[in-house]
Amino acid sequence: MLYRFFRTILFQLDPETAHDWLRNFLRITPPLALKRIATVGVSSTPRQVMGLDFPNPVGLAAGLDKNGECIESWEALGFGFIEIGTVTPRPQSGNPKPRMFRLPEAQALINRMGFNNQGVDYLVEQVRRTRFKGILGINIGKNADTPVERATDDYLFSLRKVYPWASYVTVNISSPNTPGLRDLQYGEALDHLLVVLKEEQQRLADRYGRYVPLAIKIAPDLTDADLPIVGQALLRHGVDAVIATNTTFSRTGIEHLPHVGEEGGLSGAPLMARSTEVVCRLAGILGGELPIIAAGGILSGADAAAKITAGASLVQIYTGLIYRGPVLIREAIKALR
Ligand SMILES: Cc1cc2nc3c(=O)[nH]c(=O)nc-3n(C[C@H](O)[C@H](O)[C@H](O)COP(=O)(O)O)c2cc1C
Repeated sequence: MLYRFFRTILFQLDPETAHDWLRNFLRITPPLALKRIATVGVSSTPRQVMGLDFPNPVGLAAGLDKNGECIESWEALGFGFIEIGTVTPRPQSGNPKPRMFRLPEAQALINRMGFNNQGVDYLVEQVRRTRFKGILGINIGKNADTPVERATDDYLFSLRKVYPWASYVTVNISSPNTPGLRDLQYGEALDHLLVVLKEEQQRLADRYGRYVPLAIKIAPDLTDADLPIVGQALLRHGVDAVIATNTTFSRTGIEHLPHVGEEGGLSGAPLMARSTEVVCRLAGILGGELPIIAAGGILSGADAAAKITAGASLVQIYTGLIYRGPVLIREAIKALR
């Protein structure tokens, strides 16, 4: 009810300004106040995944808090885990604005943000300052001006920086808005990246005396022929989890809507079917050896439950939170009890 009122105001603004306002509101509102409003009646529904104890299986997807500035507020809203980033080694401004578009008729967004963020040192400083003790995923990517052949250097750089602060680290090779990034999902490029990152993970685990799991985030646009190849690579290299999925290039079913011609990744309701299908196919390929974290089009408790039925262990939400507000977090947790 309260969020519906907020949403009416926020939806008068252009989408990126509305997101900035939302983050600023969360930053200045004491987490305790948010908790009183948002988490009444939410009981704990713990899960163990990747060797980590999650208070509930509903998380915040990457991209809404790229710099890790509102971590305690997300927890207060009820999320069982929070993924911040994508962060790059150096700060970058991302693509020119406008770069985010609402498609309210479809409960969807199109974005081509392009990893706008303040850089990994800034993010680590935010994490260092927070009193948050829950499960924190840190999502890493490459700078736009790093040639894709040197992408591994960027991932290594950020992995070393975030490792001591993360519960798990997500390697984002699936955003559609950084040219060449999605090529890292294929063949030798994927093998090379995974070898290098797994070796570094082991070195860091020895150094810090703590094993931090690595998750790989994939695109829904991988074909059904690509999925077994990617899945086998993840198993072969001992990756700890897969996040399925990022946003899609596809516009199927929404061709008639305003903004549909905008470049970028589509998220929200139109992504639900394909991204759940990817989860289902991956579950068959991975045979329970690797947990799946499902993101893509969750707009209701039933959507969250469908992801678990398809084979996911945890779910993440972004666009649904914009359209439905914090009530969706509660609804999803209840549906997964
Ligand atoms: C505006 C926007 C920015 C995003 N930025 C990132 C990002 O920086 N890194 C990332 O891994 N995913 C990013 N995502 C993708 C989401 O984390 C999620 O995988 C995707 O939107 C599907 O979930 P949804 O339908 O619940 O939004 C972004 C999504 C949106 C809408």
